[in-house]
Amino acid sequence: MSQLINRRAVNQTGFDAIGNRRLDAATQIQHGRALLVPLHLLERLDAEAEQREEEAETRRIEKAAAAAVAIASKLAKEEPAQEDLGFPVALRNHRRVTIFSPQNVAAAKRRLETNLREKAGTKDQPSPAMKIFARAQANDGMRALPDARRAAQRVAALGSRFENLAEPIEYLATMLALAARQPANEFRIPPLLLVGPPGIGKTYFAQALAEAMGEGVPWRRFSAGQAQSGFQLTGTANGWSTASPGIVFDMLLGSPWATGVLVLDELDKLAGDRQFPVLPTVLDLLADTTASTFEDLSIHLKFDASRLVVVGTANHGDAIDSALQSRMQHFEVQAPSVDQRRRIVEAEWASLCKRGRSRRQLDADSVQEAAERVDLDLRVLGRALTSAFAKSLLRREAGTVALELPRRELARRAAGFS
Ligand SMILES: Nc1ncnc2c1ncn2[C@@H]1O[C@H](COP(=O)(O)OP(=O)(O)O)[C@@H](O)[C@H]1O
Ligand SMILES: [Mg+2]
Repeated sequence: MSQLINRRAVNQTGFDAIGNRRLDAATQIQHGRALLVPLHLLERLDAEAEQREEEAETRRIEKAAAAAVAIASKLAKEEPAQEDLGFPVALRNHRRVTIFSPQNVAAAKRRLETNLREKAGTKDQPSPAMKIFARAQANDGMRALPDARRAAQRVAALGSRFENLAEPIEYLATMLALAARQPANEFRIPPLLLVGPPGIGKTYFAQALAEAMGEGVPWRRFSAGQAQSGFQLTGTANGWSTASPGIVFDMLLGSPWATGVLVLDELDKLAGDRQFPVLPTVLDLLADTTASTFEDLSIHLKFDASRLVVVGTANHGDAIDSALQSRMQHFEVQAPSVDQRRRIVEAEWASLCKRGRSRRQLDADSVQEAAERVDLDLRVLGRALTSAFAKSLLRREAGTVALELPRRELARRAAGFS
């Protein structure tokens, strides 16, 4: 039937085939090419389609503006004084790489500015929102790389604090030493995956790793098991009622560093059946090519996330998606042994004394008991140490300090044993 329609003839009669028009799926009719509709009606449909597109674009821009304002006001809270966008003196001699491409930032900025200007009633939004772009554009979008040689040494030194993480520590120290010998632009530390039970120092180590890479190197934790969608990593997309920046963008925007440590927790709990899947975004973050043009969908800004050190964690290695597994260097992490626990307890106590500027002796039997009570995870030991130290400070007691550890049955119940 559709072949029979002579378009010109049809137009002269004031009709056209509906299939020739730009219509959305709801209006489009199957075999619509053959359906003849009066031209004035088609023109109205065209106008409506155009308006819908415009409205969608406006919504997108409004969301981007809201996101930009949200980030800007967060930045403003962090530093009430006039923002100094200059490079920190301490990092002046560090090598740099481009994280925010100036052209891309300028384009995103122009787009947002124009649309905000066109829109009435949003006059007060541009200035705080533009702060984000100023941040991204600071130092021509360049950020500092760690001094990889010294970072390698500091990371290697973490081995004495995290004896059960000796293997990943050696791996990271080697990768950093390698990076030190390569051109700045090639600084990349392949992602790693730490598999082991909870409470054995995986997250704690990631935090220490950030510190070892350089002072103020940011670190963030993303709980894959609790994530609603990949947008939490990349920023809000259409379909969400409120716009907000993704944590990767947020981490890089607020830092003079090109790098940071991103902990992706509970990768074995990444369910594939969610409305907004998380897995594709995580996969993008783990591949060099996609990570280097990662896009924050909240304000439509691209940036290079490939310099981040991604540390995945999981309780069960085989429950992790195979594509994910293949992109990460896999390490099994054991709970610390009794001897290692003893050294952790002693080191934590020494650190409390140092921070509290008061040297106190921990009772030797307490140390031994804490080391042997493997039913208590390190978190519980940490709390017992802190409270014992605080109490002894308050009581101004002389002599050794004993630890009050939870009773065995209580600890077992609290840990979920029955
Ligand atoms: N090597 C360590 N030295 C001192 N404290 C530790 C160590 N490892 C873990 N902890 C303590 O145990 C707590 C739980 O560790 P965490 O890293 O959160 O466990 P995981 O991520 O493996 O579940 C930390 O907050 C910290 O107080
Ligand atoms: Mg953890």
